[in-house]
Amino acid sequence: MKNRSLKTLLNVPAKHSEAAASSRALKTVPPQPAPFLIRAERASDVSAREHLLDRCFGANRHARTCARLRDGRLPAQGLAFTAIHKGRLAGTVRLWHVMAGGVPALILGPLAVDPALRDLGIGAALMRHAMAEAARLGHGAIVLLGDAPYYARFGYCAQKAARLVLPGPFERDRLLGYEIKRGALDSASGLIRASGLVAMPLHAPTRQDAIRTRKAA
Ligand SMILES: CC(C)(COP(=O)(O)OP(=O)(O)OC[C@H]1O[C@@H](n2cnc3c(N)ncnc32)[C@H](O)[C@@H]1OP(=O)(O)O)[C@@H](O)C(=O)NCCC(=O)NCCS
Repeated sequence: MKNRSLKTLLNVPAKHSEAAASSRALKTVPPQPAPFLIRAERASDVSAREHLLDRCFGANRHARTCARLRDGRLPAQGLAFTAIHKGRLAGTVRLWHVMAGGVPALILGPLAVDPALRDLGIGAALMRHAMAEAARLGHGAIVLLGDAPYYARFGYCAQKAARLVLPGPFERDRLLGYEIKRGALDSASGLIRASGLVAMPLHAPTRQDAIRTRKAA
């Protein structure tokens, strides 16, 4: 199915006249359920998730500063999600425990959607689902490193993270914060560091594992 007709079925507002015409032509079609679903991540998603992340962020993604906050850690309990479209992984998002300048918080990322399925609302659905679950589980705040023009629609802003720093190079205007509980980031000042559970390695620890653990500490 072409993206445009998929978008029409999702009731995404038609912005272009061609899309509007297509929408009129389809108006006898009854409302359809969204052609994707969001569910908890499963172990069987890992291979497709890693492949998607390589495509979206490149093979050197593990060298990025935010990876230092995830290396060797487990995502926060109940806060890793997969979007499924036609039975296949279409998107991913995960949240991780951090101490953000002395305040317990979550860091969100990576968020990624299959390039062939962009602009259909999958990214927004993943964000809203993840944020709602984080709130339901009692978390107070979320930080992330990303494009403010995208994340502003979900309530994230640089001002909420203005006194925080990451453990490596980062662009100040991309470090964003969101308070689930009002005032949760008021006293957040200083380094963001990993605080999630350490993942049990599936193999005997290698020298590389030891280096990663030291960097994450
Ligand atoms: C960012 C991303 C997750 C959005 O997923 P998506 O399913 O296409 O998002 P949605 O359908 O919910 O939203 C699409 C809207 O976001 C806008 N958008 C997408 N990426 C954007 C960005 N980086 N900055 C600003 N706006 C952006 C689109 O233009 C579109 O706008 P519209 O609603 O006005 O038409 C996806 O583009 C992606 O995987 N990008 C590569 C990885 C990445 O950059 N991840 C985020 C880290 S910053």
